[in-house]
Amino acid sequence: MSELSVNHLLGIKYITEADIQLIFETADHFKEVINRPIKKVPSLRDITIANLFFENSTRTKLSFELAEKRLSADVINFASSSSSVTKGETLIDTVNNILSMKVDMVVMRHPNPGAGIFLSKHVDASIINAGDGAHEHPTQALLDAYSIREKLGDVAGKKVVIVGDILHSRVALSNIFALQKLGAKVKVCGPKTLIPKYIEKLNVEVETNLRKALEWCDVANMLRVQNERMDISYFPTTREYTQQFGLNKAILDSLSKEIVVMHPGPINRGVEITSDVADSKQSIILEQVQNGVAIRMAVIYLLASKIKHHED
Ligand code: CP
Repeated sequence: MSELSVNHLLGIKYITEADIQLIFETADHFKEVINRPIKKVPSLRDITIANLFFENSTRTKLSFELAEKRLSADVINFASSSSSVTKGETLIDTVNNILSMKVDMVVMRHPNPGAGIFLSKHVDASIINAGDGAHEHPTQALLDAYSIREKLGDVAGKKVVIVGDILHSRVALSNIFALQKLGAKVKVCGPKTLIPKYIEKLNVEVETNLRKALEWCDVANMLRVQNERMDISYFPTTREYTQQFGLNKAILDSLSKEIVVMHPGPINRGVEITSDVADSKQSIILEQVQNGVAIRMAVIYLLASKIKHHED
């Protein structure tokens, strides 16, 4: 297969295993490119991309911008906090104004679940979801699965536990879809109040004992507690959360085998993970960030090849 089955990347739910494998193979090529002295290719000289961020971001925003520039695309950046959205402009009006400047592709982060899906039905551009509320964060899941493949040789057959605030996490949902499509076994671990009720319908087991979850897994993906999405208290205190679900060096070293530790960032050091674990040789957190650029280059390149005027 040399082409994606979709014209937008709205969620991992909507793509196939073959799409993911094509993205990985393309990312392998771009990973080699970004390690060259000249880290740039001319592939997207005729493509203009708008990065629309209606919610804060460090890694995803910088990673997309770098990926676009490495592909030689023209790039415009928009942050809602400094835009006319603060004067009441709607999402469709904002995007249509940007598109009238002849933009081909939109990378959008938005606090509302489904915002990218909505946009894809109303505007004539390729849409990449860079995180929509607690729904999906597809490029994060792709870079996470790619990092597991790089570290352990394959994703199929591997056991991955996602630990923490599953309820508010778009990373968890996208990871579950991606890992299962690639043949991994997935469990989640966290306080019952932070595990969504629909989780077992996704064929995901719940483990509320961190040690048991860690003994079972090959990879632990530690998630942050998303206090900004909480309107009530889901656990008694942060201290108690850390005591039950925080990963520290003592637990890591006491396990019967060496596991791989991941975190999508941003990290709350000392809450879900201690600094010595985050910075340990078992952690691949910075490899995840590095792989994010190659994965995003691959996604943008493959979607751009489906845009009619673009001939690469
Ligand atoms: N992992 C992630 O999405 O980080 P940012 O919110 O900083 O983009």
